[in-house]
Amino acid sequence: MEREQLKDGHGRDIRDVRVSVTDRCNFRCQYCMPAEGLPWLDRSDVLTFEEIERLVTLLASMGVESVRLTGGEPLVRKDLPVLAGMLAKVPGVKDLALTTNGYLLERDAEALVASGINRFNVSLDSLERDRFYQLTRRDSLEVLAQFPEAHPIKVNAVALKGVTEAEILPFAEFARQHPYEVRFIEFMPLDADRSWSSEQVLKGAEIRAVLSAHYDLVEEPRKESATARVFTFANGEGRLGFIDPVSEPFCSDCDRIRITAEGNLRTCLFSIGETGLRGPMRLGVTDDELVAIIRDAVWRKELKHQVGDEGFVQPERSMSAIGG
Ligand code: GTP
Ligand code: 5AD
Ligand code: SF4
Repeated sequence: MEREQLKDGHGRDIRDVRVSVTDRCNFRCQYCMPAEGLPWLDRSDVLTFEEIERLVTLLASMGVESVRLTGGEPLVRKDLPVLAGMLAKVPGVKDLALTTNGYLLERDAEALVASGINRFNVSLDSLERDRFYQLTRRDSLEVLAQFPEAHPIKVNAVALKGVTEAEILPFAEFARQHPYEVRFIEFMPLDADRSWSSEQVLKGAEIRAVLSAHYDLVEEPRKESATARVFTFANGEGRLGFIDPVSEPFCSDCDRIRITAEGNLRTCLFSIGETGLRGPMRLGVTDDELVAIIRDAVWRKELKHQVGDEGFVQPERSMSAIGG
């Protein structure tokens, strides 16, 4: 069944949903989760595969065509390839992607590809064992060897002042030697320790300045609603991306909404409020009633984030409980 396009009150069509399938993670990245972890959700509070399938089916009937599975770490959710298979079959879903820390990819990549995941974004903040450990609190640089082959892969590196400068040129070389788009991401105030400060943000422009002393970079035309500015090297080898939400926000054509592991709809990464969908679903609302709840919440989607403005309030949830 096709329904009218899902829209917000600022005239933006919503085409992308990020579904967090678990709040748990097997890493403890400094910029995301405290060393001791966080209080995890009860399993019964986490959406079932059938509930996720129902929500994605309804969203797809309203024009949402991209689905990204996130976490926590999505691969710690049991039987994730089964869910991927269910979502790949939903009419209207054209792009089914995954954002992962890569640790369990060796185990799952083949099954995920067979189920219909058509691209992977893998977090990798450092190419050096010691720094990788310092950042993720896990000695697991082996994720490097576990990238699936022959699928579009983006590598996500959160850029931190005083840490990532030493990685800029190695990452550029890495991007030239592998068929991956390597993306530097500005650190956002979504850390569980709530210790973010603007001084810790290594800006995209600062990284580009370092790179331009060594390489000729050519910017590609921006795709609508993209998070990243993408550059290629003038000699054609390699791709780099810059996700600069702090210094160059990209909210004006944002087409994204999020569903948390416990089934709350978030209309912005930085939303303060959420709309519970699990409760109504478990009480037996009809599809039309659920659609009305979703449309109402999405209509009030935030115009933009307030990071850097006076009065900015950091959401209670940290990145690991939102899914990025
Ligand atoms: P592609 O569609 O492959 O470009 O993926 P993506 O960049 O949307 O997703 P990914 O999960 O790889 O996220 C990379 C970084 O972008 C993470 O740090 C996300 O938190 C950030 N990001 C994704 N969507 C948004 C958004 O809507 N707003 C902001 N501020 N950051 C976002
Ligand atoms: N700021 C920016 N990016 C972050 N990520 C996690 N926490 C933050 C943060 N505070 C990134 C992860 C992953 C993606 C989903 O979000 O490294 O690549
Ligand atoms: Fe969209 Fe909010 Fe991200 Fe801006 S901060 S791009 S509005 S999700």
